[in-house]
Amino acid sequence: MPPSARPTPADVTRGRLLFGGDYNPEQWPEETWREDVRLMREAGVNTVTVGVFSWARLEPRPGEHDFGWLDRVMDLLHGAGVGVVLATPTASPPPWLGRLHPDTLPRDEDGHLERWGGRQHFSHSSATYRRHAAAITEALAARYAGHPALTLWHINNEYCTYDWGDEAAARFRTWLRHRHGTLDALNEAWGTAFWSQGYGDWAEVLPPRRTHYLKNPAQVLDFRRFTSDMLLECFTAERDIVRRHTPRVPVTTNVMPLWEGVDAWRWAREEDVVSVDLYPDPRDPLGAQYGALVQDMTRSQAGGGPWMLMEQAAGAVAWRGVNHPKPRGLNRLWSLQAVARGADAVCYFQWRQSRQGAEKFHSGMVGHAGEHGRTHQEVRRIGADLARIAPHVVPGRVTAEVAVLHDWHSWWAGEHEGRLSREVTLPVVLRAWHRALWEAHLTTDFAHPEHDLTRYRMIVVPQLYLLTDAAVDNLVAQVRRGATLVCGFLTGVADEDDRVRPGGMDPRLRELFGIRTLHEWWPLEAGETIPCEGFRGTLWSEELEGDGTADATTPYRGGELDGLPAVLRKGTAWYVSTLPEPAALRALLTRIATGAGVRPVLDGLPERVEAVRRGEALFLLNHGAGPVTVEVPGTHRDLLTGTTLTDRVTLPRHGVAVLRP
Ligand code: GAL
Repeated sequence: MPPSARPTPADVTRGRLLFGGDYNPEQWPEETWREDVRLMREAGVNTVTVGVFSWARLEPRPGEHDFGWLDRVMDLLHGAGVGVVLATPTASPPPWLGRLHPDTLPRDEDGHLERWGGRQHFSHSSATYRRHAAAITEALAARYAGHPALTLWHINNEYCTYDWGDEAAARFRTWLRHRHGTLDALNEAWGTAFWSQGYGDWAEVLPPRRTHYLKNPAQVLDFRRFTSDMLLECFTAERDIVRRHTPRVPVTTNVMPLWEGVDAWRWAREEDVVSVDLYPDPRDPLGAQYGALVQDMTRSQAGGGPWMLMEQAAGAVAWRGVNHPKPRGLNRLWSLQAVARGADAVCYFQWRQSRQGAEKFHSGMVGHAGEHGRTHQEVRRIGADLARIAPHVVPGRVTAEVAVLHDWHSWWAGEHEGRLSREVTLPVVLRAWHRALWEAHLTTDFAHPEHDLTRYRMIVVPQLYLLTDAAVDNLVAQVRRGATLVCGFLTGVADEDDRVRPGGMDPRLRELFGIRTLHEWWPLEAGETIPCEGFRGTLWSEELEGDGTADATTPYRGGELDGLPAVLRKGTAWYVSTLPEPAALRALLTRIATGAGVRPVLDGLPERVEAVRRGEALFLLNHGAGPVTVEVPGTHRDLLTGTTLTDRVTLPRHGVAVLRP
């Protein structure tokens, strides 16, 4: 590797599929550690993440370090052939930090302090917090730089905090000066002429704290951008410290799936390995589809290359209203789904279920029932499966001809409190469109609207309320080159300062779809539907007038919008001004994909069977309630069972086959 090149995921995995989880030995006596290591070996665990929440143990008093226990843990794991993903412990500062330095604690919008006693009680903007986080990171990196167990750095944990306090306000002003230059430009960008908000001095500019009535949406949008950037600064500061000590050890941070707080596209560029935590609800009939969405998104953030499933649950979580265990086989099914969609690591929170603390009812790879418990027995099976398929699967990549576009800035702007319908949220819309593609067995990548999209035949925009000029031009250029573009409602409404574009939709897009005038938006009530020719729309509808250039339209039927276009097609550009019911959206996208020359992974797949190709391996995953037979013409070897099969395979409930020609 040339000295300047960054290490890659392959430097961690070295041809294997990683299997393991968060390991918190500080919660257990040392006898248990030896037992842990035995069980890890038996279960095929080859990686664990250590130290995520260990700051108080590593630095019990300011500047006083206790690394002895971690030395022993690292040595023990190394002796057992288990690699260590070493975490910086900065997500949960020790109580002494908050007590001695209250400026490290974040404040909510009402100015209330968030104190220790939980976790993530740190202000991203606090210079004192950053100094102490850097110091413990430095000490950790210096101590373990040469340790043979170290395979990957894991910075912090699920960065997700906000801060409305004074130090954050000062940093916000600096950030705003950088973005807008002058106060005049800020006033212009925020539209402060509305409601007498004009700023005459930078000192007047605040984070969007509690207000009597609706907040300025552009101010809220910039605050969200700022928050993502501040958290990213915390990440890169620690990343740079560990890189200085270990330039060849890759760095990651585990982001929450589809979490609104951080712009994960931007973050992925700063990581060597992209990782994600994923906790679909076992009771959610669309849990697998949600998993597929997050996995597609994470793979895309990793540039199509391998990524890590850093956390999932072996059974129940402990943070939903009602927390259900995973029925037999579901953990395996969802683990193999992640591998199918490009993961090179299947990891859990956590290895051993805690007996104390806030998450003592959250499952572990070794649950309270111990090694003979069903959950642990299933974990062992997964470990064996991953070892068996790794040599065939790891070299393979998932490729897609369809890109779904997503952008955090658009999400932030689109969900301002002054919008026309609170029923419309980006996750609902995004999930509905991805579901339609997933159920149509079309493999999808995700992309940012300013990315290079030239390798995709079909580009799907569930909703991009805010589009920059560059993004609009990019979409137009894709259609000009012959790609198929399908846009959902409320797309292209605002510019990057959340200023409504002339006519309510960018004129370049209106021309693209053949729309002369967008007269009115007609949001629908929860559960309300609107008849259109051949289907019913949900959530939203629009009063559009065509300009006569569209090649085809599907009209609304009945009511105020009777006869007006619900769907327009002009050349290869489609605009869908409502959210069709699930089966209708699936049918529409299937038809459009066929027209664009995009094929499903396999023809004739039963409904609840997911098929994904990763390199030469064809994964078939049964998400249905009972056994199912899948037609797969030809002769194949099932890598999981070693058996050869011809033309069809029967999968039990939660069953999986990984086929190779
Ligand atoms: C994640 C977190 C873990 C654990 C887990 C429980 O959000 O990173 O530390 O709390 O959730 O589901």
